[in-house]
Amino acid sequence: MHPRIRTIEDYHAAYKQAAEAPDAFWAEVAEPFTWRRKWTSVRGGAFSPEGQSTWYDGARLNITENCLDRHLATRGNKLALIFEPNDSKTRHVRYTYRELHQHVCQFANVLLNNGVEKGDRVVIYMPMIPQLAMAVLACARIGAVHSVVFAGFSSTAIADRVNDAGAEFVLTADGLNRGPKQIPVKSVVDDALQSCPGVRRVIVVEHLGWPVHMQEGRDVWYHNEAENASTTCTAEEMAAEDPLFILYTSGSTGKPKGVVHTQAGYMVWADYTFRNVFQVEENDVYWCTADIGWVTGHTYGLYGPLLAGSTTLLFEGVPTFPDAGRFWQVIDKHYVTIFYTAPTAIRSLMAAPLDHVLSYSLSSLRVLGSVGEPINAEAWHWYHQHVGKGRCPVVDTWWQTETGGIMISALAGVTPSKPAHAGLPLPGVQPVLLNQDGTEIEGNNEEGYLAIKGSWPGIIRTTWGDHERARQTYFTPYPGYYFTGDGARRDADGLYRIIGRVDDVINVSGHRFGTAEIENAINQNQFVIESAVVGYPHDVKGQGIYAYVILEGALPASHAEAQVIEASIIETVVAEIGKIAKPDKIQLVSGLPKTRSGKIMRRILRKVAEGETSSLGDTTTLLDPAIVDEILAGKK
Ligand code: WT7
Repeated sequence: MHPRIRTIEDYHAAYKQAAEAPDAFWAEVAEPFTWRRKWTSVRGGAFSPEGQSTWYDGARLNITENCLDRHLATRGNKLALIFEPNDSKTRHVRYTYRELHQHVCQFANVLLNNGVEKGDRVVIYMPMIPQLAMAVLACARIGAVHSVVFAGFSSTAIADRVNDAGAEFVLTADGLNRGPKQIPVKSVVDDALQSCPGVRRVIVVEHLGWPVHMQEGRDVWYHNEAENASTTCTAEEMAAEDPLFILYTSGSTGKPKGVVHTQAGYMVWADYTFRNVFQVEENDVYWCTADIGWVTGHTYGLYGPLLAGSTTLLFEGVPTFPDAGRFWQVIDKHYVTIFYTAPTAIRSLMAAPLDHVLSYSLSSLRVLGSVGEPINAEAWHWYHQHVGKGRCPVVDTWWQTETGGIMISALAGVTPSKPAHAGLPLPGVQPVLLNQDGTEIEGNNEEGYLAIKGSWPGIIRTTWGDHERARQTYFTPYPGYYFTGDGARRDADGLYRIIGRVDDVINVSGHRFGTAEIENAINQNQFVIESAVVGYPHDVKGQGIYAYVILEGALPASHAEAQVIEASIIETVVAEIGKIAKPDKIQLVSGLPKTRSGKIMRRILRKVAEGETSSLGDTTTLLDPAIVDEILAGKK
């Protein structure tokens, strides 16, 4: 069977084959790639107590040969990348596969000339510009491990990641555009690197033409380095299980963890899921709005589309600049056929006058996708009706940084698409619902913890530098399963609806934060003794961040004083993590509801933040039940 699934019959046949004869299935899916050497075993270690799978072990390859070189003979003059700048008046830039290949090779040579070697970690902190895509692929070309840090994270967050990854190289730019604002990216990196003594080279791409500080002996301009760098570069031969990238993501404990994906399995998974979920055709123009700094941008902005030989669009801007019609204008301008975005973006655009979308034709569109958080039925219908004009299937794709690619989703136009439901699992994915005690819940119309039985090619391999953490987080809660951290419901037809996180992780505008991570940041503030953070429903962001904060000394005497302190707390969070983690509401309290053993009762804090104050449950076991009344009275 060809890995492309085109009909519901194909789907059922593929699902059955992947479950019953996985080795044969995944060998066939992997066949069309360029391998320097074939694998000796398709799957290994999937159920080992170490929680570490191997895929295509023994194989040798380079993922960029599969993204670029493989297409040159047939698609050399086809567009690989379209760059649409932040400002709609700035001209777009287009790269064919041949041109992109040359740029990636040249960037790879710049890395080599600057001492980057196979296995070295390279942190990339860059705007959404073509050089970001080239930098990522250049790392992969020479076997360096890329770790992209979203260019909205603070200098402290960069430093933590650089140090955790042991990166000696940083790739960045002078600055970036974000809607009407310009942000001096290089100076954020400069601040970060004050706490990163291990970094020996910073390569800076000129984008805004801003003057920047260049540290002698450490910092170099990309354009100077590229001048004499060749545009050909032999790809490094990698082992299937060599790390390809590290991507930091938040968990329920304080410190973000470096999710590690490897070469062969990730490649196969990215390509297989991309082509099947979006039902990609040769002439599609595909646009994933996610920043390459997130896993969605890795798998579906970059690797997936290039592996499939598609044309991918990269956009530097934001959905609302110069106005709320920008997405739709870009779709019409470049004849985008497949559009993949996040519910939070849809909800923010729904709030704008309908004219912004109605004044564009959008007739090129064929498939719509959603990712990052549950899409509510209202947003689903608006997207389907006003963007897809009722004729484009909507795929609501559930997956995680750890899964490497899409796990549960409709295959566009092939399997059922139902509002607010991710749908059926992809062939090769075996979701289960578990009870608290870890037993599988059989049958439909059931709800439980979502876990995955067995392995799949894109599964997380480890957390960088701390394999035990990966084991504890994903593989020991329910032995024999990968634990997702999500709760889900299976409807009467077996379609999955993701309900949300069941751990201390909140999802703000499709971005993941650990409540402990935000609390740690807040606690850095000079006025603060202790804090507790919970999520609450937010119209646009999905979840908002609600922080209960205990101050050193008495509560502020005036509203003005409270405002100053709250602003200072926000500033601390922005400095520690970044603007994306700013609390939406801060409530200053004199205490937190704790049990006699000192454990914060988050259930109560969550209910108050959600406004469900009539059902607080039993509060008599609290150390100080009166604190609940104070919190209720001061609710924001
Ligand atoms: C968490 C993973 C996967 C790329 C973007 C986020 C939530 C993701 C959906 C969806 C409902 C979703 C889950 C998941 N999530 N997609 N279609 N429906 N929830 O990746 O940062 O690793 O976050 O996002 O809660 O566990 P991430």
